[in-house]
Amino acid sequence: MEGIKTIAIDGPSASGKSSVSKGVAAELGFIYSDSGALYRGVTWQAIRKGVDPQDAAAVTECMLSAEWSFFVQDGAAIFSIDGDIPVQELRGKDVRESVAVVAAIPEIRRFVVESLQSLANFGSLVMEGRDIGTVVFPDSPYKFYLDADPEERAMRRYRELVAAGEDEKAHEVLDSLKKRDQIDATRKMDPLVVAPGAQVIDSTAMTLADVIKTVVDAVKKGDTK
Ligand code: DC
Repeated sequence: MEGIKTIAIDGPSASGKSSVSKGVAAELGFIYSDSGALYRGVTWQAIRKGVDPQDAAAVTECMLSAEWSFFVQDGAAIFSIDGDIPVQELRGKDVRESVAVVAAIPEIRRFVVESLQSLANFGSLVMEGRDIGTVVFPDSPYKFYLDADPEERAMRRYRELVAAGEDEKAHEVLDSLKKRDQIDATRKMDPLVVAPGAQVIDSTAMTLADVIKTVVDAVKKGDTK
């Protein structure tokens, strides 16, 4: 693991973490990892097996009995579950509505955190999530917390959903985002908080390119310290 770097990018829903993390990974030649996709994968697996996402024991059992494989494709760390690679499926409404509940189950978090940590075996990573700087890679010297006003985040998410052909209403997206923020920030295990030592970036009035540059510059500067 000598020379492997992990860049932690945390923040609430639709704070721009994905676009920023992908941009930073491309610029630095690092592997991009979306930790939320794994919580979504567990949720998707439960739903497709007919398991109630509210039933923590059943979701845990379903997750543990599945076969998970992790690999790198096109610069991103991805996974298969029982041989299937879910991508668009992870963005569906059913998964979106249940994932915060599933992500609050301690056994699920333990499994996901260990899986995420093992991705560093593939090489240097830019990982986005909620607890990357606090729990997954707490020793990383490269921690960032992205934020933006809830209204701005809801508009970004709404535009994404409409572009993906989903039939959504802007006020419902804002309500659902606030609800998820609330669950993420108040759950007992690993709530969303700013990691000690993280650089906070408020992207409300920043362009994507500006945010990427802020992170890349900070990482490069950190290297010369
Ligand atoms: O980033 P996202 O919307 O794909 O995250 C999906 C859910 O998973 C969301 O409720 C927050 C949770 N999550 C988490 O608890 N910890 C992470 N590191 C990433 C996501």
